[in-house]
Amino acid sequence: MASVGFRKGLGVTVAQLEQRFAGEINDPDPQRDSRRYVIVDLENNRPIGELAYGELDLEQGKCRVGIKICELDYQGKGYGWESMTVFLDYLFERFKLKKIEIDTLADNVRAYNLYKKLGFRETRIEKGFWTDPDGNAHDVIFMEMENPALGGGR
Ligand SMILES: CC(C)(COP(=O)(O)OP(=O)(O)OC[C@H]1O[C@@H](n2cnc3c(N)ncnc32)[C@H](O)[C@@H]1OP(=O)(O)O)[C@@H](O)C(=O)NCCC(=O)NCCS
Repeated sequence: MASVGFRKGLGVTVAQLEQRFAGEINDPDPQRDSRRYVIVDLENNRPIGELAYGELDLEQGKCRVGIKICELDYQGKGYGWESMTVFLDYLFERFKLKKIEIDTLADNVRAYNLYKKLGFRETRIEKGFWTDPDGNAHDVIFMEMENPALGGGR
């Protein structure tokens, strides 16, 4: 979690996480405001990371997404790009979205480069937008992508 500002982790227990995930998994609402997905290496069935959408707004046709390739030996090998490409197509189609938003700490160069490569456009940078648990303020870059089927994106 260091790249996303939590150098000492989130400070939650496995039991707390399991409870949170169970609540999500057991919620059958097909238009749930947020949902998390596990990225799996199909060669060996190993879970290697997660994708999530949140702030789903069907009226305005938008949501916000996030990604983590959690297994360090899987980072930098194209899995972030591949899984995010599939995820964006899925979300645009499934919820008939006009746009998808994303943000990153300005010092997270890997994430910023990935989002640019995927076709996200920078909309604004907020200086000192978020303060991490150690008290360090971080600039945050906000980006968005319009639905390629409506003429935006990749
Ligand atoms: C950021 C992250 C999602 C990128 O996924 P990844 O699988 O490691 O990246 P990929 O191998 O798919 O690379 C895709 C692009 O990302 C960028 N990138 C990846 N590694 C990079 C590095 N070490 N330095 C700079 N840019 C990098 C490049 O633009 C790359 O395209 P290229 O290979 O054509 O140059 C992943 O490293 C990660 O989960 N990091 C920790 C958590 C995090 O920062 N999440 C995002 C913010 S919530």
